[in-house]
Amino acid sequence: MSRDLVREASRLLTQGELVAFPTETVYGLGADATNSSAVEKVFTLKGRPAHHPLIVHLPGSSALSEWAQAPDPRLLALADAFWPGPLTLVCSKLPGVPLAVTGGLPTVGLRVPDHPVATELLIEFGGAIAAPSANRFGRVSPTTAQAVRDELGVDLFILDGGATTVGVESTIITVEDAELVLLRHGGVPVEKISEVAGVVRDDTAGTARASGMLEHHYSPECRLVLKEAGEQLEFISNEMAVMGLASDLPADMPDIHFSMGSMDEYAQRLYSSMRAADATDVEALIVVLPDRTGLGSAIRDRLIRASTPRPQTL
Ligand code: TXA
Ligand code: MG
Repeated sequence: MSRDLVREASRLLTQGELVAFPTETVYGLGADATNSSAVEKVFTLKGRPAHHPLIVHLPGSSALSEWAQAPDPRLLALADAFWPGPLTLVCSKLPGVPLAVTGGLPTVGLRVPDHPVATELLIEFGGAIAAPSANRFGRVSPTTAQAVRDELGVDLFILDGGATTVGVESTIITVEDAELVLLRHGGVPVEKISEVAGVVRDDTAGTARASGMLEHHYSPECRLVLKEAGEQLEFISNEMAVMGLASDLPADMPDIHFSMGSMDEYAQRLYSSMRAADATDVEALIVVLPDRTGLGSAIRDRLIRASTPRPQTL
């Protein structure tokens, strides 16, 4: 990544403009987190309802105290264990944190991304960057610069850091009534969260505080047909594509297939495969779900939400 491009991105952020940048999970659509009118542009460009809070990206853990009020010791232990990395901690916000960023909530979602370009940008900018995934609201998150361009148009300044490595969004954790709560499955498996911080209550099916928790989200254009491993995959033909762990797929596959060698690869290629299926004229994508261990929980979650029918528009 050229230093000049990072400087240009930083300059745009300072001027209240938006830039897209890579993280280890997915590409983000960034704005200066202290500039409410810049943050409002994010909602407009994404077509996202204004009450959905954004994640604030920090250059390092030491910036946590500038945004959060006395985080629970378990959250601090998680920051120590997993930052930089695919973990977002929802903490009580300090009074100065703009409500535009938190969607009016008294809490703020914070994370330190683990990507050299994101880190360089955060350091050059010298502040915090509020950024949701750089896709139109409800759509598949982008894992390449080209996918961002396809989603949000040619005028947006995009730092191209290649394909993201984790491929699914960050895990979101908070503390409510002294309980550690999982708000979204993501790049840090919940088993690892428990190893560090103890019992976690799963509230991923709960109220839609997080837009990624809406029933319909992360959706491609083609129809998704979900199957469990071992279920019969009927009517496989070239009108359909198929995706799953290699060990769960039949020997006889349609021309368009996405066969994953491992759970890590499944997460990494999940969104780009849905986009690739959309770019063909297949009518449906048949997906064999992974089991609920490790990254499998996040992959299943995204696929189930992606296959939920769009709500009827009035
Ligand atoms: O991996 C990621 O988290 C990516 C990269 C770009 O960092 N970002 C991402 O942002 O997935 P977004 O906006 O698509 O999803 C962020 C989720 C939303 O569902 C939002 O509602 C939730 O985080 N969130 C943010 N602040 C919150 C808060 N204070 N309370 C509850 N949920 C919050
Ligand atoms: Mg998103």
